[in-house]
Amino acid sequence: MAGTVITIAQQKGGAGKTTLATHLALAWAGQGRKVALLDIDPQASLAAWHRLREERLGAGNSGLDFAAITGWRVAAEVERRARDHDIVLVDSPPHAETEARIAVRAAALVLVPVQPSPMDVWATKPTLELAKAEKVPALLVLNRVPPRANLTEAMVIQLDELGVAIAKARIGNRVALAAAMSEGRGITEGGGGRAAEEFTALAKEILRRVKA
Ligand SMILES: Nc1ncnc2c1ncn2[C@@H]1O[C@H](COP(=O)(O)OP(=O)(O)OP(=O)(O)O)[C@@H](O)[C@H]1O
Ligand SMILES: [Mg+2]
Repeated sequence: MAGTVITIAQQKGGAGKTTLATHLALAWAGQGRKVALLDIDPQASLAAWHRLREERLGAGNSGLDFAAITGWRVAAEVERRARDHDIVLVDSPPHAETEARIAVRAAALVLVPVQPSPMDVWATKPTLELAKAEKVPALLVLNRVPPRANLTEAMVIQLDELGVAIAKARIGNRVALAAAMSEGRGITEGGGGRAAEEFTALAKEILRRVKA
């Protein structure tokens, strides 16, 4: 059976796409899933992270099948990897409608990270419209949620009005995430504290949703 393709998309820059991609991919790999992680962002920041990871663990030992792919090859490469992986996770670039559209089209689910602030909520609409146009279900993931809840709950009410599912699991504003990335690690690979718990819960919730 073909694997499940999950694309992370959000036209707003800096929303947490790449952060979600890294830590979710390793959370699933840590649970024994065969995961392919594709970076289709020409900035290729995941490639730098993956290089670091292989320096630490040895070439071919990163626990993931990683590739940086751009342009016309994206659709075919996603499809090819779906044949021999349980999950193909695609990290897409901001402000690049064509690439994001191709990756959204190929997906069973689009994850849309959104920070709980008015500007981020407004900026989320084009991405949700893209998913809708491609008839792919979207799941909003609240990211960088501050400890004080008032604004977050007000933003959740606004997001609810967009008519798209919101993940129950939320990711807080956690410096540990960037620290883990800078060491080529995933947050769920040990010592991740609250951030690891949040990612474990999110990883489980997403798999339940796509029945993977
Ligand atoms: N939950 C979080 N807690 C703390 N910092 C975070 C969190 N999520 C993301 N960040 C930080 O915010 C910045 C942007 O995150 P990231 O690169 O994941 O976003 P992006 O959506 O991939 O950005 P781009 O649109 O440029 O590709 C990074 O410095 C990252 O470490
Ligand atoms: Mg990114």
